[in-house]
Amino acid sequence: MCGIIGIASNKSVSSNIIQSLKKLEYRGYDSAGIATIKDGFIDEKKCTGRVDSLEKILFKNPSAGFLGIGHVRWATHGVPSQVNAHPHSSEEVSVVHNGIIENSSELKKDLEKKGYKFKSQTDTEVITFLLTDLLKNFDLIKAVNKTLEKLNGSFALGIIFKKYKDIVVGARRGSPLAVGYGPDENYLGSDSYALKSMTNKITYLDDGDVCLLTQNKIEFYNSNNKKVNKEILTLSNDKNTADKGTYKDFMSKEINEQSQTAKNCINEYIDHLRKDINLYNFPIKPQEIKKIILIGCGTAYHSCLTAKYWFEEFSNIPVETDVASEFRYRKIKFSNKNLYIFVSQSGETADTFAALDMCKKNNVKTCSIVNTVESSIARLSDFVLPIHAGPEIGVASTKAFTGQLLVLFILAIKISQIRKEINENTYIKKIDKLKKLPDLIKKTLKCQDEVQIIAKDFLSTKGAIFLGRGLSFPIALEGALKLKELSYLHAEGYPAGEMKHGPLALIEEGLPVVILAPNDRYFEKTISNMQEVIARGGKVILISNKNNNIISENIRFTLEVPQTDDYLMPFLMTIPLQLLAYYVASLKNHDVDKPRNLAKSVTVE
Ligand code: M6R
Repeated sequence: MCGIIGIASNKSVSSNIIQSLKKLEYRGYDSAGIATIKDGFIDEKKCTGRVDSLEKILFKNPSAGFLGIGHVRWATHGVPSQVNAHPHSSEEVSVVHNGIIENSSELKKDLEKKGYKFKSQTDTEVITFLLTDLLKNFDLIKAVNKTLEKLNGSFALGIIFKKYKDIVVGARRGSPLAVGYGPDENYLGSDSYALKSMTNKITYLDDGDVCLLTQNKIEFYNSNNKKVNKEILTLSNDKNTADKGTYKDFMSKEINEQSQTAKNCINEYIDHLRKDINLYNFPIKPQEIKKIILIGCGTAYHSCLTAKYWFEEFSNIPVETDVASEFRYRKIKFSNKNLYIFVSQSGETADTFAALDMCKKNNVKTCSIVNTVESSIARLSDFVLPIHAGPEIGVASTKAFTGQLLVLFILAIKISQIRKEINENTYIKKIDKLKKLPDLIKKTLKCQDEVQIIAKDFLSTKGAIFLGRGLSFPIALEGALKLKELSYLHAEGYPAGEMKHGPLALIEEGLPVVILAPNDRYFEKTISNMQEVIARGGKVILISNKNNNIISENIRFTLEVPQTDDYLMPFLMTIPLQLLAYYVASLKNHDVDKPRNLAKSVTVE
């Protein structure tokens, strides 16, 4: 999704803007651009494709200037093209934008009547001309706030001005934005990760904030043009630095480090001496929870679906799950006896944030499970449970998924123990089993050679089906999501028991069908469903922990995962599915870290 950088300095800024834009590449984008103030004029350069291409343009034709803004664009309004790339500049101002201006068509008509000529198909250009117009009659802060008043939708903005040549302005409503404090320069950025190489002193903007950066000061204003003070945070030094190490890409690194990230997470929550889970200051007494509502998007939603089974199994609490983009627009009956849990790797997903915001406005208790502890979702929720997975850069979520599952599992058993719905003995046994999980993940990761062979079968297919029952059903959904986002194949996840109600019609000779059949109470039933697939020519890839040379000679591949408690099988079932998606995409020469059309941090709805 779009990313913004701004720097006000006492030296040339273009090279630092480029380096910081590279840090935002993980978000997914299709074009890039930069604008600086050079000899009193706005100097704008932009291109389609990668930041590397922009860097080459700057190499041939440098952008001098001690102040500037940069952008990576993920197209919403208008195709990816040079003209639609940001910044969007007039003679007077240059603007970079992350978000969507919902009333841009009406605003555009008004501005055209005033004689402004639009070059692009973007919604952003209206901001450029609105501001240009208002600056004729108002001072800087008033003109900015009056511009913002006219905009519907969500935005984070970075703006530079011909007239105010030492000032970068930032503004936020709905989309994330942070400022960073450096020696002799100050920064604006879509996230702290982009600024981390330059500073660890950060302030996050809240909705409605406007900030004004010069080389040696940062000021904040509210929508009434009044100065406000904001807290400066010192970012932690993350041990898990975001480089690929010896791996070819971030995704393979992130898949392979799951044993370690699981260990880190377990160590954060489990008190090994007391055999207990550390969970203090919970926002609602577990005994008083009447219902749990789990909300997320994409992979995070799949972790919510998985956790529903755990909560229902261990506690007597009714559980609902919801996709954030649906929850936020439904007529919800809120109750302060319910616990609303939000799951998000980035902590910046627009729909999840909006759903959380809706809960906050209805005064109910919220908890977030995030990877990025400084994120907007973490900051807004009453209680935060970090997953401690370290930065996840690959667009496809892998180690964050297993991290989310871990924290949800830990939460489910702790809440159930406090409510006395599981006894001490069961509780301690579950903790003991959990402590063994990192080693089991490590063992499971050894299936890479086998999965590489299986992946070849997916090169000649139009699609694939993933089936599971119980806890393996959400994992089937996750396997299908991973495959579609990385390999661009049509993939469906289904509860195995639903096949006869329609999807069985899809089975034809050679269609790959991945069957998740752990040796749990559903095993026999899943195997029957598998036989129905085989009978119709489906090419079955069976993943199971039942090791006695299973059942049918017509299975194309059987992949064995280690034994563990039935409740922990989702962790082990997930690993081969992540690897499968990874290897199919690699064989197809896809960019596994940046699949087409997708963004890491989905900051527009
Ligand atoms: O940052 P979040 O966890 O809130 O992101 C939610 C989804 O956008 C994300 O999980 C997406 O589905 C992944 N690309 C899937 O691999």
